[in-house]
Amino acid sequence: MIDRILLDEAKIAARLDALACEIDAAYAGGEIRAVGILKGSVFFLTDLLKRLKSPVSVDFIQVRSYAGTESSGNIQLIHDLSMDIEGKDVLVFEDVVDTGQTLRRMMDLLSARRPRSLRIAALLKKEIPENANLLVDYLGFTIGPEFVIGYGLDIDEKYRNLPYVAVWNPMK
Ligand code: IMP
Ligand code: MG
Repeated sequence: MIDRILLDEAKIAARLDALACEIDAAYAGGEIRAVGILKGSVFFLTDLLKRLKSPVSVDFIQVRSYAGTESSGNIQLIHDLSMDIEGKDVLVFEDVVDTGQTLRRMMDLLSARRPRSLRIAALLKKEIPENANLLVDYLGFTIGPEFVIGYGLDIDEKYRNLPYVAVWNPMK
């Protein structure tokens, strides 16, 4: 199922080191409310948070796009946050920004709850026109349009636990 390894463990670790420094500097020791978008972001979130010096609290949210209504802009909330985010400095964790639809809707949903600040950390962003205007504050890697698996990313719920990111090959 694996075509080739795109990002190996060492490459991911080095990038996370740099991102953690950047985030610590930006928040200057203020408390960060990390919000992971289930389930794909979990590996990225835990590995990054372990590197931070800033105080952190963690919460999770899960949404699902309504099947067959991609253009309708609706998402279904499967699992909501356990804590209020009003007045908090929220940093949302996403595994991969593809069209950016999920993240746009998530940001609308969360900004309506009036956090003090709301930023995005994403492990991957695909270089495609659909997401060009979506700003990711802390980005791991820009990748091509290919479908990837591992390090949280799945195909039919499998391969999330691969320690690297690989290009999926349906022919293998
Ligand atoms: P978007 O709404 O099109 O940006 O899609 C984002 C979601 O689709 C991600 O959170 C993933 O769950 C899933 N996704 C998009 N591309 C990939 C991929 O290459 N591998 C695995 N999941 C993906
Ligand atoms: Mg996902």
